[in-house]
Amino acid sequence: MKIPLLDLRLQYNSIKDEISAALDRVLNAQRFVLGEEVEHLEGEIARYCDTSYGVGVASGTDALILSLKALGIKEKDEVITTPLSFIATAEAISSVGAIPVFVDIDKRTYNIDPALIEEKITKKTKAIMPVHIYGQCADMDPILELARRDNLTVIEDCAQAIGASYKDRKAGTMGDTGGVSFFPSKNLGAFGDGGMVVTNDKKIAEKINILRVHGSSERYRHEILGHNSRLDNLQAAVLAVKLKSLDKWIKMRQELALLYEDLLSGTAVTTPFVPEYNTHTYHLYVVGTPRRDELLKHLLSSGIETRVYYPIPIHLQECYSYLGYKKGDLPIAEWASENTLAIPIYPGLKKEGARIVADCIKEFFKK
Ligand SMILES: Cc1ncc(COP(=O)(O)O)c(C=O)c1O
Repeated sequence: MKIPLLDLRLQYNSIKDEISAALDRVLNAQRFVLGEEVEHLEGEIARYCDTSYGVGVASGTDALILSLKALGIKEKDEVITTPLSFIATAEAISSVGAIPVFVDIDKRTYNIDPALIEEKITKKTKAIMPVHIYGQCADMDPILELARRDNLTVIEDCAQAIGASYKDRKAGTMGDTGGVSFFPSKNLGAFGDGGMVVTNDKKIAEKINILRVHGSSERYRHEILGHNSRLDNLQAAVLAVKLKSLDKWIKMRQELALLYEDLLSGTAVTTPFVPEYNTHTYHLYVVGTPRRDELLKHLLSSGIETRVYYPIPIHLQECYSYLGYKKGDLPIAEWASENTLAIPIYPGLKKEGARIVADCIKEFFKK
């Protein structure tokens, strides 16, 4: 039996008719870029994330880029972030001309280690961009405390963590802005690219509204240089339908995570650690073992899809060689990139499927 890492068809089949009706509505209206569907979704996502505003943009990456721009981060500013993330996090920082400064991660949560941030703060530091990796929030209070002390802005990379919460606060509500991704594989995924900035700051929301349409608040009048970064109505209509099921789907992921936790306890793999202050949404279920590469081969050869998030930490990526980091500089992130892998988790994965995955892992360690 083959078990994919993610199967979106199961989710789709459960809401197919509603999705078709929503797509039909947009096709009949023949209004595709921004407009009613996007405005409706912005309101719904803001409500879901407990923020005052949501601004739909073309991708999660753009949500971060436009946040940085709206918050005034510019060339040569330093932005502190994590090396264990998708490249988009650092790429967003670089694309406004700023310099990503990488701080190592907490070995248990894989999130940025707040205790290591202070020593990296310089006169040039203007912002911190924590990533809520794999679906659970970074330890935000000490990060916010440092930011307050040094007057830094905080941009939460919530791409993997819509719906997650930290001490009863939702991801995206704690910093100045949160960047959400609707990439199809995300817990709330569109049928293509899409993203949203969530914020409680009216001025920032207004600025991003302008930045996403070529720096314009009035047709053919351009106050600032902007971007073409708009969410389209087809994606918004799909996302509004899916959003209604998001909590149910997150719950299904959490139930599978509990089952994995139970089935894998006492085995040689480490399972995700969730501090008591966090509610994990299990975008990814990442396990650890020093025999990672062998386990990966064993799972793949047994028909179980698995993937490494991320095999090269960002500070060691070729595109960042100019920053001068070398192997050994951020040992925990490097350890994670060599010793962890993600196993299948998605709404619709049957308990039986999770048992097969766990049995396959157990069988490997018996060898
Ligand atoms: C942590 C993280 N940040 C940013 C992004 C970028 O999002 P998008 O692919 O929607 O541009 C992703 C998505 O892959 C991500 O996982």
